[in-house]
Amino acid sequence: MLKVIRKKSDLKEAVGSFKQKGKTIGLVPTMGALHSGHLSLVELSHSQYDVTVVSIFVNPTQFNNKEDLDKYPRSEESDINLLSKTSCDLVFIPSADEMYASTPLIKLDFGYLENIMEGKFRPGHFNGVGLVVAKLLGLTEPNGAFFGQKDIQQFRVISALVKDLDIPVKLHMAPIVREMSGLAMSSRNERLNDEQKSTASNLFKSLQIAAKLITSGNSLEKAKKEAFEFLGQLKNIELEYFEIVDFETLQNIPSVNKGEQLVLCLAAHIGGIRLIDNIVIEL
Ligand code: PAJ
Repeated sequence: MLKVIRKKSDLKEAVGSFKQKGKTIGLVPTMGALHSGHLSLVELSHSQYDVTVVSIFVNPTQFNNKEDLDKYPRSEESDINLLSKTSCDLVFIPSADEMYASTPLIKLDFGYLENIMEGKFRPGHFNGVGLVVAKLLGLTEPNGAFFGQKDIQQFRVISALVKDLDIPVKLHMAPIVREMSGLAMSSRNERLNDEQKSTASNLFKSLQIAAKLITSGNSLEKAKKEAFEFLGQLKNIELEYFEIVDFETLQNIPSVNKGEQLVLCLAAHIGGIRLIDNIVIEL
């Protein structure tokens, strides 16, 4: 039976009582408006840990744009309903006041990760992500925590948080779940109309075009150029960035070597909605 928890103290107590019985804990942090991508994380957690805790919290500190925060989809009732049909044991849904009882004094800075891709275009975003994830890890003290490859830079930021602060948790990266069209599932897709959704599926296509060129021996420049050209001829897509970087460091690669893992990352605006996607390739 799914248990809904709204207070930090109740979360600690509920998790504590599972731990006393020797159970392992998997944590899946989310901002709700749940879709199959989120649910895949829940199932992955269930396959590796005894108890799965999902958090739903639209975290104000990670939004650098007030309108984006206000318009972020919220669907608590249907989220709880969805989770009750999964292997989730506890869902933590705090209010903003509960989560941030006082305004945090600390600011997190993730070094070079702040100056590239998501860090560059969303200043302050990773400070908010880092804060809320640190809080969730502190409150739950899980054995494992699950995050999607869709937000690969977020995963690298959280890895730095956990490594630099010696937080004892194993991080798991889950593959990207996509619509039939190839569009990466995202809570933000709810705000796209049908036409915009079909336009958005070209983002994945552009990644595939570039990936295929690279794996068949073309230069990164050529791959990038072709992807730009493909997206450039489409109406209503405003590309923010398209980067081909090292899978681990997310930094530019000086030369392409065999056996190297790369990730192609993009962000684009469609009808005022910001979408991100990526694809990993091995040379
Ligand atoms: P949210 O966007 O709700 O995503 C929650 C988790 O689901 C993240 O780890 C994200 O990478 C993963 N996810 C999203 N779309 C996915 C997809 N199509 N396939 C697989 N996994 C997917 O990311 C956040 O929330 C927040 O920043 C959070 C980590 C909860 C901190 O507030």
